[in-house]
Amino acid sequence: MIGANSAVGTALLAQVARGAALDAVAAVRRPDALDGLPRSPRIMPRVVDYGRSDSLADAFAGAGAVAHLAGILFENRTSDYRSGNVEVTRAVVEAAQAAAVGHVVFVSSLGADPRSSNGYFRSKGEAERIVADSGLDATIIRTPLLLGPGTAGGRALRAAASGPSARILGGGAHRLRPLDVDDLCRAILGCCEQPPAGVRTCELVGPTTLTHRELIERAARCLGRELVFRSTPVWLARFGAGLAGLVRTGGLTPAVVDVITSDEAVDRNADGDLGVRLTPLSDTLAKLCQAAPR
Ligand SMILES: NC(=O)c1ccc[n+]([C@@H]2O[C@H](COP(=O)([O-])OP(=O)(O)OC[C@H]3O[C@@H](n4cnc5c(N)ncnc54)[C@H](OP(=O)(O)O)[C@@H]3O)[C@@H](O)[C@H]2O)c1
Repeated sequence: MIGANSAVGTALLAQVARGAALDAVAAVRRPDALDGLPRSPRIMPRVVDYGRSDSLADAFAGAGAVAHLAGILFENRTSDYRSGNVEVTRAVVEAAQAAAVGHVVFVSSLGADPRSSNGYFRSKGEAERIVADSGLDATIIRTPLLLGPGTAGGRALRAAASGPSARILGGGAHRLRPLDVDDLCRAILGCCEQPPAGVRTCELVGPTTLTHRELIERAARCLGRELVFRSTPVWLARFGAGLAGLVRTGGLTPAVVDVITSDEAVDRNADGDLGVRLTPLSDTLAKLCQAAPR
């Protein structure tokens, strides 16, 4: 597993520790990231240089499958979309080829498209293409907003719903299909335990469609809070992010504003193909609201 300290990685390792039918090498790129990983005799933590295919191939030796979870939405001084989404994927694929790994699971994003004018969607699309053209068997899972106590989306939702006021972009009118991070992890584990042949690209979303505003309202009810909403027009957020980009790198850029205000729509949900029974949104929100804020 690459990006084992990510929110998805930590949730996945928790499922491995609870009794999945496999062992996992949990690769991180910083020694201090090892501390936050779940512990289990089934989990072998390891520091790996993601920039070096030989370091990655060494970690992949003997693996039946690789789950590639490293990736970014928010650029920063050290990671941009090219390094954080495209180049790391290229290195993972080259190492998987060298180590003759049987299957690659790549977590991508709804909207991924190598021709997109949005830098994030474009980089995810380019990364998907690297995986799909690798000659390796692979499952590419495009995901929406992921909810769980450890995900960025889960933390942001909890903060917004804790009130007394919530600031939303564009009235929170964009439509979401939030997915429980544990459902995504069950899908990834299924692909690793019984890797299917060939390359498939799946869109896995949660069971409920609702607007961002409705999602915050439901989370606030779960926390027993009353909220006042304040809205910022999307064009103004984009303009402000563009101005801020003149004096800083990354953070909330116009590209990020467009990603987080996109409608999450799919033609066909892959829950059946991936063998996942989706968690009802009410249960996901209950888990989020019961968890101590992180
Ligand atoms: N969370 C969501 O709602 C969501 C939605 C759609 C798609 N996804 C995708 O799902 C995957 C997992 O998401 P997540 O939210 O669990 O991630 P996360 O918690 O934000 O963790 C990001 C991971 O990527 C690594 N990383 C960051 N910059 C990197 C770089 N330049 N080179 C190599 N690795 C780098 C981080 O390592 P360090 O800690 O060492 O920086 C960390 O392991 C990502 O590919 C993400 O794009 C997530």
